[in-house]
Amino acid sequence: MATNTSLYIPPYRRNAASSLLWTPSLISIPPIDEVFVESLDFFNKHLYKSSIVLRYLVHLKKIYRDDPNSEVRFTKHRINIGETSASSSLYTYTIAMREIDYRTDFRLVSNDRVKRFLDLGCAPGGFSEWIIKNNRSCTGVGFTLPPELGGFLMKFDAPGRYKYFYQDITQNAELISCRNNDDSGSGPQFDLCIAGCMFRSTEKDESNYYALPLRSRSRQFLRYFQLLAALNNLQEGGTLILVFNIKAHLCLIEIICSLSCCFERLISVKPKNVFAIRSSFYLIGINYKREKTQKSTLLERLQAALDLIQTTDTNADLQKPLLLEGSNDQILTEWAPFVLEHYQAMWEVQARAIESDLSTTMKTIDNPL
Ligand SMILES: C[S@@+](CC[C@H](N)C(=O)[O-])C[C@H]1O[C@@H](n2cnc3c(N)ncnc32)[C@H](O)[C@@H]1O
Repeated sequence: MATNTSLYIPPYRRNAASSLLWTPSLISIPPIDEVFVESLDFFNKHLYKSSIVLRYLVHLKKIYRDDPNSEVRFTKHRINIGETSASSSLYTYTIAMREIDYRTDFRLVSNDRVKRFLDLGCAPGGFSEWIIKNNRSCTGVGFTLPPELGGFLMKFDAPGRYKYFYQDITQNAELISCRNNDDSGSGPQFDLCIAGCMFRSTEKDESNYYALPLRSRSRQFLRYFQLLAALNNLQEGGTLILVFNIKAHLCLIEIICSLSCCFERLISVKPKNVFAIRSSFYLIGINYKREKTQKSTLLERLQAALDLIQTTDTNADLQKPLLLEGSNDQILTEWAPFVLEHYQAMWEVQARAIESDLSTTMKTIDNPL
């Protein structure tokens, strides 16, 4: 009997599936840039060679950076950052959280599913505001960098239900001290942890596309620290929202792979309405497996990585895998398809957004370099 054989693709994978049919619309796919390849770590060499979407995106970004119109747009954006734009930025983040909730398809962080949440890097407060408003009985706590250290101003408050502290989270050892259930009942407190701190530096980045310059230690330290803090404070079955970068730094690749065994499912979301062109996206961990995480020793490996960043004088020590075990070849064989599945969809969204921005000023570009 004839059956309908069309393949069902779950909503959270539709982006990834569309990558298989993906075609560039603005420029042709560039050939492999061998000089560029040489500057990449072993994992990114593989990604760049295997994914035409990534190759296209890298090329597109170069055109975008060189386009004088982009500079005008970014300068305008930089001028707008500050006190005057804090309210619109708050709104932007509320919309982003709405999209994250919607795109996970289970309304994970609304409809009173969240009882108590932790928001790391909470200012201006859009995520917190949206969660408080969409979970009538929930309470929350946020930490965010003080404005005098370059942090954003908080623009949201909900006395009685939400409390925030201006504090550099990396100075708060409490956050990463392990909380197991004990006789006093003081186990992890939160069913949702958001690790949304983004490191910013005014120093110019002289490094190549993926390598870690010395100052990137602070960024890497913040990434590991906020992840460890979130995992330590997350209850069994809880949800993690972790900010990620579209440039697949080895450190991020390791995090996404390591987290795959700590959650029932990982979903990548790049809010299309507000952040399509930016390099960030969010990794959502659903249904936290606390015991499994502890058995996997990920928490210890994160702590060891934090110690190493603080003690080593050698950059090369930080440019190799710190969380995953095995030779480079073993890591690639085990993890490359999984990493591609998550990243490719994000690269695609960003490429489409850049294409659309560029196409307003450039009709056809074929050999721009
Ligand atoms: C992209 S914003 C987060 C926006 C926020 N999720 C919202 O919904 O409004 C990143 C935040 O991380 C904060 N941040 C960066 N480094 C931090 C640190 N070491 N400790 C605490 N907050 C930090 C920044 O000040 C900024 O407020």
